[in-house]
Amino acid sequence: MCAQAVKRIAVLTSGGDAPGMNAAVRAVTRTAIDKGYEVLGVMRGYSGLLNDDLVPFTLRSVSDKIQLGGTFLFSARSLEFQAEDGSGFRKAAETCRKHNIVGLVVIGGDGSFRGARALCYEGIPTIGITGTIDNDITSSDHTIGYDTAMNTAIEMIDKLRDTTESHDRCSVVEVMGRNCGDIALNVGIAAGAVVTLVPEVKYDMQVDVIDRIKKAQQTGKKHFIVVVAEGVGHTEDIARIIQKETGIESRATILGHVQRGGSPTVRDRVLASRCGYKAVQLIDEGKSNRVVVVRGDKIVDLDITEALDMPRTFDYELYEASKVLSN
Ligand code: F6P
Repeated sequence: MCAQAVKRIAVLTSGGDAPGMNAAVRAVTRTAIDKGYEVLGVMRGYSGLLNDDLVPFTLRSVSDKIQLGGTFLFSARSLEFQAEDGSGFRKAAETCRKHNIVGLVVIGGDGSFRGARALCYEGIPTIGITGTIDNDITSSDHTIGYDTAMNTAIEMIDKLRDTTESHDRCSVVEVMGRNCGDIALNVGIAAGAVVTLVPEVKYDMQVDVIDRIKKAQQTGKKHFIVVVAEGVGHTEDIARIIQKETGIESRATILGHVQRGGSPTVRDRVLASRCGYKAVQLIDEGKSNRVVVVRGDKIVDLDITEALDMPRTFDYELYEASKVLSN
């Protein structure tokens, strides 16, 4: 077979990293090789396409990766790629053509999918896989990394609880989630938080925080966990006001990027593996501009634009339940 006829699939990780991205890269690589493709790993997200930084992968290139957090392909948010005049998209597409890439798998969030769509318009078949801890992709019930991030957050909060209890204090804990309160809501329930604040629901400091804590105090409760989503912010201020208004010594803890790291949970590894497998199947069927998502227990695909246009949702019913459970 002459070099020009070789069919290649490329894979990249883009945006904020998420545990399970490596498992997805592994699944893409192994499935593609099984189907007779050559595989190229693109380094540092879309920057790797602009800089022609692609590495040939064998089956062994992805050995011992499934259990690793982060992304061994590295990740980046490339401004050059997103240049308004479209020059970044064109340059990246040229690199793909030069390497006979017949399908590009992009593992990332909404921003990464916009890039994938732009490349599709430039004639490069692209498939997206949802890798982001925030779970802020409406088209998918869960995103790769979300489960691990929640488990990391709860492990940290369980540790905080020990010292919070020892000192009869209130711990105000900020968890990640820029525009999405899913991590906060679920971790809040799992941690038995007295109050959980999310960006989707407006709150009143007196009614929703101070009064709730005082009410719990009157029932004999002496230590408190308050969970605040990153998108709500003001975590230090919230702790200060709680201390001032209730007399309970309060401390703020921002968990931050620790939630983005660590070995992926079984759930994230399996989700990533299923999505990677499906992405290659779609390329093999000649599909493009699709995103691979999970609905119920099924892995399905839909048009990237359709996925991007879906209005954000939030589980308000679960949020109401969380208030009752924390009484
Ligand atoms: O990947 C999602 C996320 O972790 C958000 O929760 C957070 O706001 C953001 O990324 C942080 O981005 P960066 O790592 O660029 O500071």
